[in-house]
Amino acid sequence: MELGRLMVLGTGGTIAGVAAVAGDNVGYAAAQVGVQALLAQATAGGEVGTREVRAEQVAQIDSKDMDFAVWRTLALRCQHHLDDPQVGAVVVTHGTDTLEETAWFLHCVLKADKPVVLTCAMRPATALAPDGPQNLRDAMVVACAAGLRGVWVVCAGEVHGAQQVQKVHPYRPNAFSSGESGPLGWVEEKTLRWAQNEAPAQARSTLVAIKDVAQCASWPRVEITMSYAGASAATVEALVASSVEGLVVAATGNGTVHRALQGALRQAQAQGVAVRLATRCPLGQTIAHPEGDGFDFPCMPGLSPVKARISLMLELAAAQAPG
Ligand code: SIN
Repeated sequence: MELGRLMVLGTGGTIAGVAAVAGDNVGYAAAQVGVQALLAQATAGGEVGTREVRAEQVAQIDSKDMDFAVWRTLALRCQHHLDDPQVGAVVVTHGTDTLEETAWFLHCVLKADKPVVLTCAMRPATALAPDGPQNLRDAMVVACAAGLRGVWVVCAGEVHGAQQVQKVHPYRPNAFSSGESGPLGWVEEKTLRWAQNEAPAQARSTLVAIKDVAQCASWPRVEITMSYAGASAATVEALVASSVEGLVVAATGNGTVHRALQGALRQAQAQGVAVRLATRCPLGQTIAHPEGDGFDFPCMPGLSPVKARISLMLELAAAQAPG
């Protein structure tokens, strides 16, 4: 079977980072090396597959600075290549810090009947033992898997889905986890091994069609506020006063909210602000009571607060989209 072209899109991150001293794994500048050079480094040990591979620089940023303009450009470039019959798959090099957010955003907006595989590194390109080249090679292996579709994350030999994946460690090379479900698969010696013998299907959740992403000049403003011991209403009140359109509460435990926040959140709701709950617990998901859900505000089970924020933002954008 003829395999389509593999597009590698660069967005920056530590994978493209450079330190003044080779052994320095923390004092480096992210987003310095071009994606073409990263690809050359990753394929120096031999080609990964029989596909033609091309690189394209979409952005060059430290992913802590990710914003909607870059997301929009990235989503449109991904969709452009996915729609090209000559292209078989897309790989995206990305910083680790907001990679899970970008993965969820792309999952929500792309019409991805082919694979889009995000990868990254925890060591800069100049490290004594950079992890980027291997991660990029592994991502390319996953991208070449027959029949695969949707958005995936590959890091440290593990394959994760867009919904579960979270960065859980600030330093070690295997910085990502899918929590209780674990990785969906592994890449070993250029071979992809699924945990369940076949590629798991990822539930689609297109809240905003890609054509609407193209037309979206600005995004609804959605912020995250946290419920914690000693919380006060001040942050919620300040956000409402600054015309926030949506609020995700990083709630305690099973979606509970400090009583000091509840009145301000109800007030926000009454003023038209969309309020949602997402548990701040890193594992599991909120459980509704069988008789009425029992939550003070609508809850977004299965999503971390940062991903719930993206979903709410897209929900509001869809509601505001003409037609
Ligand atoms: C970034 O997220 O761009 C910097 C940190 C990293 O990639 O590990």
